[in-house]
Amino acid sequence: MGIMTSSAFETTRPDPIAYLDRLAGTDLGRSYKRLMLEELGVRAGQTVLDLGCGPGTDLGSLADAVGSGGAVIGVDLDEAMVDTARERTADRPVVEVRLGDVHDLPLADGVADRARTDRVLQHVADPVRALGEIRRVLRPGGRLVMGEPDWETLAIDHPDGGLSRAYTRHVADKVIRNASIGRQLARLAAGAGFSVPAVLPVTPVFRDVRAADRVLGLERTTGRAVDAGYLTGEEARRWLDHLTSGPFLAAVTFYIVVAES
Ligand SMILES: C[S@@+](CC[C@H](N)C(=O)[O-])C[C@H]1O[C@@H](n2cnc3c(N)ncnc32)[C@H](O)[C@@H]1O
Repeated sequence: MGIMTSSAFETTRPDPIAYLDRLAGTDLGRSYKRLMLEELGVRAGQTVLDLGCGPGTDLGSLADAVGSGGAVIGVDLDEAMVDTARERTADRPVVEVRLGDVHDLPLADGVADRARTDRVLQHVADPVRALGEIRRVLRPGGRLVMGEPDWETLAIDHPDGGLSRAYTRHVADKVIRNASIGRQLARLAAGAGFSVPAVLPVTPVFRDVRAADRVLGLERTTGRAVDAGYLTGEEARRWLDHLTSGPFLAAVTFYIVVAES
């Protein structure tokens, strides 16, 4: 449905690659990716996997970290992502990009020293199986760093708290397949046989509705909440009107989880 309340909101859904590029280019994107890279502790000469590598966002920084004697393998299920990742890393001889599924990785046992997943496990059909696969392809003593949001923690300020709760409940129930994966990762990784030395929360606070909209797609998602019966049309208008008129605040917790095999 079209609610069309304010020019603050993006009206069309961005292309998936443009969306990922845009987020990676924000201060938030750069800072959490830097933290994930630090936690990965890559050494020269190592073999590093980026599982669900998208358009190759992190392959360059991983290539810098392993140096000319190492290897970086990106894996993604989506052909357009793989094609773009290959184009963008064509000048990086240590990088290889494979079409593949994190549930059934096209990799031999114990080949990798390090692996990362960045906003991938929130979307997969079976995170437990994916973690088992990642453990299989890591060598003993290898390290996995995961970064996933917990959408149940999405807090958007509104004078009518019921609308905020309904909005978040819709996102958690209907928009993201594994919405509370962030808080579950440490337990799921332990269940897959990893030790989990660190869990680092990153909680961006958005005080600019436009910046939040670029990440959250507020108007589009509100339209879906109406279609799914979480908000009435009138509630949706009150919700969006306030988001653009009053001081805005939204926050969501993103968990970075370090796991060792
Ligand atoms: C939110 S994007 C993140 C991309 C990249 N990690 C980044 O930070 O820019 C999620 C990516 O996971 C990929 N993906 C989803 N399910 C997958 C699966 N089962 N196996 C491999 N890749 C998958 C998608 O195609 C998409 O490129």
